[in-house]
Amino acid sequence: MSIIEPNSLLSVPTGLLRVSQSLGSRTIMFSLVIPTYKERDNIEKVVKTLSNLLDESIPGDYELIVVDDDSPDGTWEVAQSLMPEYPQLRVMRRQDERGLSSAVIRGWQVASGRILGVIDGDLQHPPHVLLQMLDAVGQRADLAVASRHVDGGGVSSWSFIRRFLSRGAQLLGLIILPGVLGRVSDPMSGYFLVRRTAIADVTLNPIGYKILLEVVGRGSVGEIAEVGYVFCERTEGESKVTWKQYVEYIHHLIRLRLSTGQLGKLSQHIGGFPIGRFLRFGLVGLSGLFVDMVVLYLLHDPTTLSLPLTRSKIISGEIAIINNFFWNDSWTFADVTMQQQEWRQRLKRFLKFNLICLAGLVLNVLVLNLVFHYIIRNSYIANLIAIASVTIWNFWINLKLSWRVTQVK
Ligand code: GDD
Ligand code: MN
Repeated sequence: MSIIEPNSLLSVPTGLLRVSQSLGSRTIMFSLVIPTYKERDNIEKVVKTLSNLLDESIPGDYELIVVDDDSPDGTWEVAQSLMPEYPQLRVMRRQDERGLSSAVIRGWQVASGRILGVIDGDLQHPPHVLLQMLDAVGQRADLAVASRHVDGGGVSSWSFIRRFLSRGAQLLGLIILPGVLGRVSDPMSGYFLVRRTAIADVTLNPIGYKILLEVVGRGSVGEIAEVGYVFCERTEGESKVTWKQYVEYIHHLIRLRLSTGQLGKLSQHIGGFPIGRFLRFGLVGLSGLFVDMVVLYLLHDPTTLSLPLTRSKIISGEIAIINNFFWNDSWTFADVTMQQQEWRQRLKRFLKFNLICLAGLVLNVLVLNLVFHYIIRNSYIANLIAIASVTIWNFWINLKLSWRVTQVK
């Protein structure tokens, strides 16, 4: 074992965000991570309150790990200066990595506890709730979450807007990821304890603030306990939440949706298939479908122009192609287009896209007629089937030819 200088900072783990199952020689019951960014005026009080509380209940069997992202106000320095007074305190200063969720996992990676936890460093999470959560995990639960939405929980004085946004985000999450958000009443909580074995040796991949989603989504979490708590107001410093966190939250939900459960298995199955890109392409296709349907109606329907089906379809299809090119070029393949922004290159892509889609359109008309005459005599349903099959064709060929992203080895 190496000799550790007094007051030295923890070194920052690198590589995958993965907590290992095996503990070193020194194992303890509980490791609590306190992520901080610009909490200079809070850190001492947090450390003091938590130490007092835990010294009484589990003396010597816990550690506090402050993970600070190199705060410009020197939070890490203040924390470091507290170490002689609080022997259970350890401090990490991260200089090359940023973000709340990854800070928490980096802290867990150096932890020696069989139970891992996280609490905000701004005193908004009442410390005494920890004891109830420790009890729960000590008994049967794999995870104990402090919740604002069970008995004894609440928020102190949130505006209507903030409550609305918080509940809206939760509802959206329930729709996208019911298997994860349906299991806890307060999936936004950043105050929870988890048994090491429930997340050990799983690579976590969080973005933004909501690390609990990651733990429930990717870990093997059996029983979950919830303990009510009141989210206090901040007295010092300020919240780091901005609009960016809402966008990251949605991004996080979608990524979890695609990489866990049935969909995750499917995407592993088809290996290198660019799922995200295909979904965007499909969404653009959907907008094209709408354009196509409306124009087809305007041209073909007996109550409007009542042109012949095939002629109507060719025109509506071409208008949809123009719509789709615009969105694919500026969104679906934005990363590719970024490097080829000249208008001549853009024109070339448009011509290729058009050509491929025209070939697709021929296919489309063929499928449409086949389906219409031999399977189902409804021009709209037939059109829908034709469009769906041609979308797959269009995606592949365009991926290979128009927005070329094949990697050369
Ligand atoms: N290391 C690190 N890096 N810490 C960070 C970062 C970062 O990029 N951003 C924020 N923190 C720390 C803060 O210093 C604080 O201790 C904690 O993470 C929470 O950040 P706040 O900015 O105070 O968040 P909040 O009070 O709005 O938000 C919280 O929302 C939930 C309830 O809706 C969450 O963070 C949850 O913990 C909380 O339960
Ligand atoms: Mn806060």
